[in-house]
Amino acid sequence: MKRVRIGLLGCGTVGGGLVELVRRNRGVVADRTGVELEVRRVLVRDPAKPRPVDRALVTTDPAAVLEDPEIDIVVELIGGIEPARTFVTRAIEGRKNVVTANKALLAASGGDLFRRAAERRVRIGFEASVCGGIPILRAIAAGLVGNRISALVGIVNGTCNLILTKMSEEKCSFAAALAEAQRLGFAEADPSLDVDGRDAAQKLQILAELAFGAKLDHAEFLVEGIRQVEAEDIRAAAELGYVIKHLAIGRDLGGELELRVHPALLPVVHPLAHVRHEFNSVLLRGDAVDEMIFTGKGAGSLPTASAVLSDIIEISRNGHGHEPSWHLPEAVDKPLAADLESKYYLRFPIRDVPGVIGLIATALGNHGVSISHASATLVEGRPDCGNVKILAHRCLESALRRAIGEISRLPVLAGPAVLLRIFEEGL
Ligand code: NAP
Ligand code: HSE
Repeated sequence: MKRVRIGLLGCGTVGGGLVELVRRNRGVVADRTGVELEVRRVLVRDPAKPRPVDRALVTTDPAAVLEDPEIDIVVELIGGIEPARTFVTRAIEGRKNVVTANKALLAASGGDLFRRAAERRVRIGFEASVCGGIPILRAIAAGLVGNRISALVGIVNGTCNLILTKMSEEKCSFAAALAEAQRLGFAEADPSLDVDGRDAAQKLQILAELAFGAKLDHAEFLVEGIRQVEAEDIRAAAELGYVIKHLAIGRDLGGELELRVHPALLPVVHPLAHVRHEFNSVLLRGDAVDEMIFTGKGAGSLPTASAVLSDIIEISRNGHGHEPSWHLPEAVDKPLAADLESKYYLRFPIRDVPGVIGLIATALGNHGVSISHASATLVEGRPDCGNVKILAHRCLESALRRAIGEISRLPVLAGPAVLLRIFEEGL
């Protein structure tokens, strides 16, 4: 039996889940893998908080974890860039293997950390950084290693998916649904990372690096969150046969990559349309396996701890001095596609209904955008206020944005246009 001593940095939602999972499944893990796990030290900010761990193990001194020669693996579950980056760097410099769930850190400094780890011949496990309990990174990097992956589309943020599910199924407000995601421990410490799409963008960066073999440090691509999605749009989408989901989309177009994160209308029959609450799902296409879908809980204490634990075991069994079995790429840069072609849902708040559809359709036509559906509705109790909703055929987004610019100067417009992309083209 091999004894592995864990130094835990952070004992909140995920760290607490790891402590609980080690306690619950230590025996079965030892039987299956020959690895006996011990949580040896736990770094926190506030030592007085109640936690599922023996108080004698708790410390507020980083050195008590990072410089303890008995600790084999440092597990970083603090989140954010600093002090997590400093602690992880110190662990690597001290030749300790690291496991982290911190996609913000990897997206910002993954290149540097992996280089240092390779120099020190230690490993960094990061399965839990993308899609919580779904072993998606290992699937891409190991199970599907014999495939060229050409495209992926995923629901990769549990908080956004919970919010959109509760807004559409329970008529819950955005604020109440976000508060629920925070209460359940799904949201980031700064929840704007979730609702503004940056958490999903960090995950897409990691997924795309592994799937497409591209180096994407500091890549800038289209990132939109879900704040602009209103109950009115969710209702209109449902009437037209769609649900609104927050998607991360990546395509290898040969010479360049298309990467984007935004809310989108999905046909109700699309497999991702049925992914609800904090569940995540990634649909991808490999040239050997064709389409494949991975679904499971993408946030939460025990599901995420499950991914952390799998990294701890994998690293413990392969040990120091081995080349990582999978890692983020070192060098291949691919340019990102500049424009985007899609179908669109548009909503224009208006203050005068008669003839307004014609004005809007004409302006769209002026820019080569043709429409497949148009309707005008009045706001209840306000006969002078309404919304024009348009479905636009596939067109270049740059042309559509020029048309929206022209429409926004019409005197009948009562507010900014809402633009949501429609995802039905498949992978
Ligand atoms: P959390 O509940 O806020 O826990 C953070 C922990 O880090 C707390 O125990 C906190 O101590 C400790 N901490 C914070 N700043 C510290 C500092 N300066 N020094 C020492 N300890 C410090 O966060 P979480 O939800 O577990 O998330 C942890 C990581 O996992 C993040 O990178 C997150 O993105 C990632 N992740 C989370 C989920 C999820 O569902 N929550 C899923 C996948 C990945 P105190 O307890 O004393 O405040
Ligand atoms: N805040 C993240 C989410 C946690 O809601 O998906 C999981 O990475």
